Amino acid sequence: MKKILVVGSLNMDLVTELNRTPKVGETTIGGNIVKIPGGKGANQCAAMARLGADVSMIGRVGKDEYGDILIDTLKEFGAKTDGIKKDEKVDTGLAFIMVNADGDNSIVVIPGANFSLVKEDISRDMVEECDFVVAQFETPLEIVKEVFRISKELGKKNVLNPAPAKEIDDEMISLVDILVPNETELEILTAIKINGMDDIDRGAKALLDKGVEEVIVTLGKDGSKYYSKDKTIKVDGKVVKAVDTTAAGDSYIGGLIYSLSKGMEIEEAMNYATMVSALTVTKKGAQSSLPSAKEIKDYFNL
Ligand code: RIB
Repeated sequence: MKKILVVGSLNMDLVTELNRTPKVGETTIGGNIVKIPGGKGANQCAAMARLGADVSMIGRVGKDEYGDILIDTLKEFGAKTDGIKKDEKVDTGLAFIMVNADGDNSIVVIPGANFSLVKEDISRDMVEECDFVVAQFETPLEIVKEVFRISKELGKKNVLNPAPAKEIDDEMISLVDILVPNETELEILTAIKINGMDDIDRGAKALLDKGVEEVIVTLGKDGSKYYSKDKTIKVDGKVVKAVDTTAAGDSYIGGLIYSLSKGMEIEEAMNYATMVSALTVTKKGAQSSLPSAKEIKDYFNL
């Protein structure tokens, strides 16, 4: 099995449920606050570890209780956490999450220690040991570039989940092997207004033209679509009753890279990732909802 390194964020998610997401200027009453381990980087790492991947993480938490909980949770999932530092001065990252009655969420991230990650935190040895490097945008852009520069030089595969979305420059494009945006992120990356599959096709092709080798656009309940210079693959979504879509995208990426690390072909990997993501949204929370390989096998009769 190939090895995976995740460089990314760890947040404590402070989650409340409400009937309806409030409009701008509106006040609503929520439920209790529930604390659940989260952060896009940690969620992706946890998803892979829970499935049985060989995965390590580089990141930063604060020297506080939440930091300890986030590290311990990843360890319990089976991830290697030696690359996670405790910041002396800044607190662990937080995310305020509202989940409405349809299971849809709105998230505000307070980056905290995630934004204190520095180039010195990137261990060249850890990059050298892995086959895939996976990053997102909840840590400083310059750190993502730095780790991708090192891994490119060492011949590793760079996987970028550009979330939360921001525009990316040509250097970043040239460093990415597999780019996994959702539709909103695709629109921000390409400045192409996305309104249906034709626009998604145009956006993905624009990214291929700029030099990304493989693009996978996640489409929520409609599945995902893969693009490279010589093939396009559409994988349909799985029908489940969604109670909370938090970490849907993270678990898809976890399932995808876990599958690729096991040597699956891309279509099979996308299918597996779709199942992981579908089961994730049937449960509440981010890392609390991630399925094991056995749960996937039993639920989908594999
Ligand atoms: O993708 C979901 C994650 O986004 C949450 O766990 C939250 O921490 C934010 O990073």
